[in-house]
Amino acid sequence: MNKAMSRILMVSSEAAPFAKTGGLADVLGALPPELNALGDECGVVLPHYGSIDVSDAELVYSGLRVYLGGGFYECNILKKVVRNTPYFFVDHPGLYGRDGFYGDRYGDFGDNHIRYAVLCGAALGIARYLFPTQVFHGHDWQAGLLPLFIKNFVAGDPAFFGAKTVFTIHNLGYQGLLARERLWEAGVEDRFYRSDLLEFRGAASLLKSGIVFSDALTTVSPRYAEEIQTSEYGFGMDGLLRARRGVLRGLLNGCDYEEWDPATDKLIAKNYTAKTLECKAVCKQALLDEVGMGNRMSRPLVGIVSRLASQKGFDLLGGVLDEMLGWRDISMVVLGSGEKDLENLFSGFAAKYPDRMIFWHGFSNRMAHAIEAGSDLFLMPSRYEPCGLNQMYSLKYGTLPVVRATGGLDDTIEGDTGFKFWRFDSWDLAECLRGALAVYADPVRFQRMQVAAMGKDYSWARSAQSYSALYRELLS
Ligand code: ADP
Ligand code: GLC
Repeated sequence: MNKAMSRILMVSSEAAPFAKTGGLADVLGALPPELNALGDECGVVLPHYGSIDVSDAELVYSGLRVYLGGGFYECNILKKVVRNTPYFFVDHPGLYGRDGFYGDRYGDFGDNHIRYAVLCGAALGIARYLFPTQVFHGHDWQAGLLPLFIKNFVAGDPAFFGAKTVFTIHNLGYQGLLARERLWEAGVEDRFYRSDLLEFRGAASLLKSGIVFSDALTTVSPRYAEEIQTSEYGFGMDGLLRARRGVLRGLLNGCDYEEWDPATDKLIAKNYTAKTLECKAVCKQALLDEVGMGNRMSRPLVGIVSRLASQKGFDLLGGVLDEMLGWRDISMVVLGSGEKDLENLFSGFAAKYPDRMIFWHGFSNRMAHAIEAGSDLFLMPSRYEPCGLNQMYSLKYGTLPVVRATGGLDDTIEGDTGFKFWRFDSWDLAECLRGALAVYADPVRFQRMQVAAMGKDYSWARSAQSYSALYRELLS
């Protein structure tokens, strides 16, 4: 292929396999290597959280000073190369070397604005000394100050001449809010506290900084790019996003088939393909055995793997599960943790139907794979879903998704590959589940849908090509 390559530095608070709470990490673990495979040069900047093992990392810079709020933070920069991609870890034990990425059991860390401002500041140092960069690509509010710093603080510096900025919104619901009085601690002067800049409903928003100052905006599905321009999904930023629609595009995430493919997955009981679907039953039996429901092979098994956040819509289940677990006698395995009321909802039903429902509290990648492979149906009734990755994994595993038609769920699930409902309503969810169970009862129809689902291709290569084209457009 004959094309100019771009040098891109991404900044993110998560990247698989180093630090993951959700899909953001999956994206940062897969998109950069895919861009590098296409011929671009992409590096990633991450905090060195306490849980990341850097014993085999290389120290590539010591004593990088990031000046903020009248003082400076001295960081070391470590580097690991994974899948041909350099990951730069910003090492500052006082800021990042704690248990937990964003907070602990007492809540969010009070200095997150400083922690992520330092991350953005360190990215500028990395670009200057280690990885000359043409496009700075920030992800979510944690990287929201990156374009502000570039546009306002280093614009006259030859190291940054012509640099462009891209900002990706993975979730508009997390806005990075902080009190005006604390902005200076993040290295931002009070003059930026204006309604057309960082001010948002009486606070400063780091997400808004990303949206206002970036040259290009993306979000993670075409449908979500439309939705966030409406008051229903705009979290109060829809007006701003409508004003910036000219530079906003929705680029669908991909599925990392190196990690999520039942033909090669090392974390499941037996590998299978669309041609050996009978082996999927081995995975179902193994999962049921593991959770103590081994005698329920003949019943439909519904899986959930999720952060338990109101975004995910599980509150709808309160009005549905008695019917499903009760007289319809389905089985369910739920893996997740998060908001207390949702944890209580699932542990309450697990206590009420102990032989039919298991709530596995916590985070387990192995269990996530076992549920994808072993379940018949996969449930995602999201209130909103910027993209969603689990439904794409489910397609590949022939585990038919039952989803609310919003954001990326609507973009990726079709009538022949899964089940959709539109209104955010318990009744509509119940009706959709009933439809799925009716198809399950007809093995020929169900299997036809499984084969269609497994044949879908959402590989990252296509998404990476769209990002690559966007970078080239910005640089031309
Ligand atoms: P979100 O990013 O909003 O959480 P996505 O569907 O984009 O939703 O991505 C979620 C990712 O996190 C998937 O890779 C999913 O398997 C993983 N995940 C979520 N909860 C858990 C959990 N409790 N244990 C293991 N993996 C999880
Ligand atoms: C966010 C969204 C999710 C998306 C992920 C990766 O966490 O909630 O829908 O798939 O980011 O872009």
